[in-house]
Amino acid sequence: MAEKIIILDFGSQVTQLIARRVREIKVYCEIHPYNKIPVLDDSVKGIILSGSPCSVRDANSPSIDLTLLGDRPILGICYGAQLIAHLGGGSVQASAHREYGRAHMDSKKSSALLNGLSAKSQVWMSHGDTIMDLPKEYEVIGSTETVRVAVFSHISKPIFGIQFHPEVTHSTEGSELIKNFVVGISGCSQTWTSDSFAETTIAALKQKLGNDKVVLGLSGGVDSSVAAVLLHRAIGKNLYCIFVDNGLLRKNEFEQVLESYHTLGLNVKGVNAKKLFYDALAGLSDPEEKRKAIGKTFIDVFDQESHLIEGVSWLGQGTIYPDVIESVSINGPSATIKSHHNVGGLPDFMKLKVVEPLNTLFKDEVRLVGKTLGVPQEILGRHPFPGPGLAIRILGDITPEKVDILQKVDAIFINGLKQDGLYDQVWQAGAILLPVQSVGVMGDERTYEQVVALRAVTSLDGMTADWCHLPYEFLGRISNEIINQVKGVNRVVYDISSKPPATIEWDYFF
Ligand code: XMP
Repeated sequence: MAEKIIILDFGSQVTQLIARRVREIKVYCEIHPYNKIPVLDDSVKGIILSGSPCSVRDANSPSIDLTLLGDRPILGICYGAQLIAHLGGGSVQASAHREYGRAHMDSKKSSALLNGLSAKSQVWMSHGDTIMDLPKEYEVIGSTETVRVAVFSHISKPIFGIQFHPEVTHSTEGSELIKNFVVGISGCSQTWTSDSFAETTIAALKQKLGNDKVVLGLSGGVDSSVAAVLLHRAIGKNLYCIFVDNGLLRKNEFEQVLESYHTLGLNVKGVNAKKLFYDALAGLSDPEEKRKAIGKTFIDVFDQESHLIEGVSWLGQGTIYPDVIESVSINGPSATIKSHHNVGGLPDFMKLKVVEPLNTLFKDEVRLVGKTLGVPQEILGRHPFPGPGLAIRILGDITPEKVDILQKVDAIFINGLKQDGLYDQVWQAGAILLPVQSVGVMGDERTYEQVVALRAVTSLDGMTADWCHLPYEFLGRISNEIINQVKGVNRVVYDISSKPPATIEWDYFF
């Protein structure tokens, strides 16, 4: 049976980082809300209790019955550590001053958890409470300048607590410590790799789907492409892919991506539905209405196409782990789940059974699996691109002429980034067609034409972003090329706003 670590989430903002660190050690792990403990069978080798914005001193703070976890190794991080101390009868109190930031930890006693860590190992603290006294049978094994109980353990059982956050990169040996827990103490073998993931997932999909048919909508993006290749490896021609040209893709993207899909051997049908989308969008300027029109048209086209496939019973989706992790709601007892699964009243294809082969992976893990499967770099390395495509980069109403202008501008910008080796340094880039005209002069005549904005950002996950400091020479050259080559544009501006307070796209989206 596959082995794993379970992370119980008490609502910390950085719980996902714990999962990232564990998986980097090549050990599979899952995050579950503290109040929805999954079945703990023999595959669960160890349990990590996350941090939390709460205080164990508050009535109603999130808690668990530690005896439910059996005699598996347990590691409490920050709130998780305070909870272990508190439940065992120790004392947790408000720190005299909030402890936030860099500190240095020294081992006080040799312990499997601190094996190999340097003296004065840099750690990252972020807590308002501190453990004053440990329960009976627990001992301090590490301290910092100001925190005596920085790391503790049970004297005979594999139960540990750490006050700092080993999951953040500022804790420079945090990964070592997590590895000590996951491998040394919990005994996980480090066998969870993209190769093993691909192999076991393909075998499981074969088993699950048998001779059933699956329909999957491709977007040209990383997730749907990798999901398709995994399914294709499992069921071959029984995977029917649909790639819809909504007329809002990048210049030549439909043809290029379709060709890559064919090269990968996918059974894919390209559907030119541009006119339907342009008709649905005609006259709409409101961002919400535009998005709704695009969503509805996509559903109509996909529904119609999936009906043409006889006997299809599954809908494949490229959903990834961050979309399905249940988030702990700190202000209420209930945990919310982001769900897009089948509910009544949806089109027929949505009533199909859903298969989501990537729903346990983070984005960069999807890329690694894609690489293992031979998905070409031009698909794996692509910048994120919004579902409604260029429609949300044309402020105001959409016409085929405006799409044509924006596609040309965008292509000059994106090809320029690629030519100058800048594309991979940018998280996302694109051009926005503004609903303003401005005066210019070309030859002997004055012009009154469109303004385009260029946007390029660096980011890790799109939640926060900074504008890219692209070289002036590059921006100058691209601006010249755009104004000289794209009829209808006489001014180019560069967006130098960070997120927050701005957003990446210009069209509103809640
Ligand atoms: P913002 O503009 O909110 O964008 O900073 C964050 C990320 O989300 C993408 N985005 C969208 N994706 N439909 C999508 O599928 C949308 O309506 C939409 N709006 C923004 C954006 O491109 C960026 O990657």
